[in-house]
Amino acid sequence: MSDANKLIVSLDLQSHLAELEKRGLLVRVDEPINKDTELHPLVRCQFVGGLQEDQRRAFLFTNVHDSAGRKYDMPVVVGALAASPDIYAMGMGRPTSEISQAWIDAIAKPIPPVVVEKGLCQEVVITGADLTKPGGGLALLPVPVSTPGFDAAPTLTATLCVTKNPENGVANMSTNRAALKSTNRLGVRMASRIGGSGGYQNWLKYQAMGKPMPVAIVVGAAPVCCYTGPQRLPVDFDEATVAGALAGQPIEMVQAKTVDLLVPANAEIVIEGFISTELLEPEGPFGESTGYVALEDFNMSMEVTAITHRRNPVFASIISQVTPSESSVMRKVALEPLFLGHLRDQIAVKGIKRVVMHEVLSNLRPLIFLQFSASAPRTEVWRGLQAASSRIADCGKIVIAVSEDVDPNNANAVFWSMAYRSNPIEDVLVVPFRSPGHGPSSDRKGGGKADPRTANSTLLIDATLKHVMPPIALPAKPYMERAQELWNKLKLPPITLQAPWHGYALGDWNDVWEEFAQNATAGEWEKNGAQTLARRRGGLTPETSVRSVES
Ligand SMILES: Cc1cc2nc3c(=O)[nH]c(=O)nc-3n(C[C@H](O)[C@H](O)[C@H](O)COP(=O)(O)O)c2cc1C
Repeated sequence: MSDANKLIVSLDLQSHLAELEKRGLLVRVDEPINKDTELHPLVRCQFVGGLQEDQRRAFLFTNVHDSAGRKYDMPVVVGALAASPDIYAMGMGRPTSEISQAWIDAIAKPIPPVVVEKGLCQEVVITGADLTKPGGGLALLPVPVSTPGFDAAPTLTATLCVTKNPENGVANMSTNRAALKSTNRLGVRMASRIGGSGGYQNWLKYQAMGKPMPVAIVVGAAPVCCYTGPQRLPVDFDEATVAGALAGQPIEMVQAKTVDLLVPANAEIVIEGFISTELLEPEGPFGESTGYVALEDFNMSMEVTAITHRRNPVFASIISQVTPSESSVMRKVALEPLFLGHLRDQIAVKGIKRVVMHEVLSNLRPLIFLQFSASAPRTEVWRGLQAASSRIADCGKIVIAVSEDVDPNNANAVFWSMAYRSNPIEDVLVVPFRSPGHGPSSDRKGGGKADPRTANSTLLIDATLKHVMPPIALPAKPYMERAQELWNKLKLPPITLQAPWHGYALGDWNDVWEEFAQNATAGEWEKNGAQTLARRRGGLTPETSVRSVES
């Protein structure tokens, strides 16, 4: 790779955007665009429009207005963190093939942040009356409506909500949505389910102390910081330390102006304040990553005490909702390595090769595919199924194991494996008492809070190869390779081969059949006919297997 093409870790959002633009991964839109009705729908087109993943781009809108006619100086960027795995790889400063191991290494060897005196994120500080005057405070920010037609408010999505465990001082940075309520109030959603948000655990501690929870919402930071927000780290594991390890150097943090919290010094925008631990406020509806609209729930209410930002900030927004989306790309790349690391390195499941969380429409959490080597013992396949379904409370409602010749990123191939390689009576297990997880709110009995006792359940399926099978019925590899040469020579439309694209043996094959196939491809089929003529016999019904008769 030439020096110009070498990937580097950007330590702030704007240098990342410059890198994306240099590599043709960013589309600049200078046309006027309405943030309330047009902005997210335009970017949505690339997820629902049948584009290949690598054709998706980040969109930088430089001429943003709202439905009331207000114009914003601040540009808005969507898709800059993870519209595609290539864009995510740019943010990580390493090729996609190295991302998985980078996460495992960063979690194993975190690098603590350093505190600096001054931060770019505090070049402009807005406090006091400037937060409450009409059109001031949060109204200065070009926050888009994510799902026009259903969402109740413009909502911050590319957030790092920084909170702190008041008992031990360990910070938590989590991506949580925050809806505009007034110029100095936000509705914040931190999931309270088992396996939900670390910020919620801190909130419970402040509530027990009878105090509001200090919070700083960071919007737009170095991609490596942003990627730790949706990552599932153990409780009381400071995300900034993992971001440092991903960056290969300590993240610079600065003291927030009005709350006792550290924030990334090079962030674009920081919204500081306190979340009430006494009062909750209705929040939503808001289109969620389950693919359904979350209905109105009582969620957290944050009083803003300061907004700080760079002199010329870029406002970042993440496109989420129905998957695939920027949010699912971001979580897929981060979560799969954790599952693989857990199964392979921590509990030593023999033969586990890959973990794939199904992305399209189902949104990663419910459906997990495990790929095993051909030699994996059946008992290990089952240990892997059980472990993947229980690693995180709201992940792995359905876990399906396949063998190494099946591509777990191709759901059709997984169905194919289930269809011919599993026998439900012995390869399927339904396990009771699973947390309902993150699902559409209409599922809740009585419409109230999800009741962990009205539990869901788990479906485990072993669709691996358990005995020899005949070859896959596609031309053998050399013939398909020759076919590709011909295809290209004929200048036919470009093709992307999807496994399985050539035939291969699965153990049930013998020398006679191999010879027949060789003869057929050599044009010597009559040799085969002469051989079978000598083996003709009577007294059989059609479709009697030859090997059941001949020794
Ligand atoms: C775009 C996006 C929006 C998200 N919104 C929320 C949210 O509103 N509430 C929430 O609890 N989790 C949300 N998540 C998921 C959390 O970020 C994720 O569960 C994370 O692990 C929480 O980290 P924590 O355990 O350190 O709090 C969102 C993730 C993404 C990528």
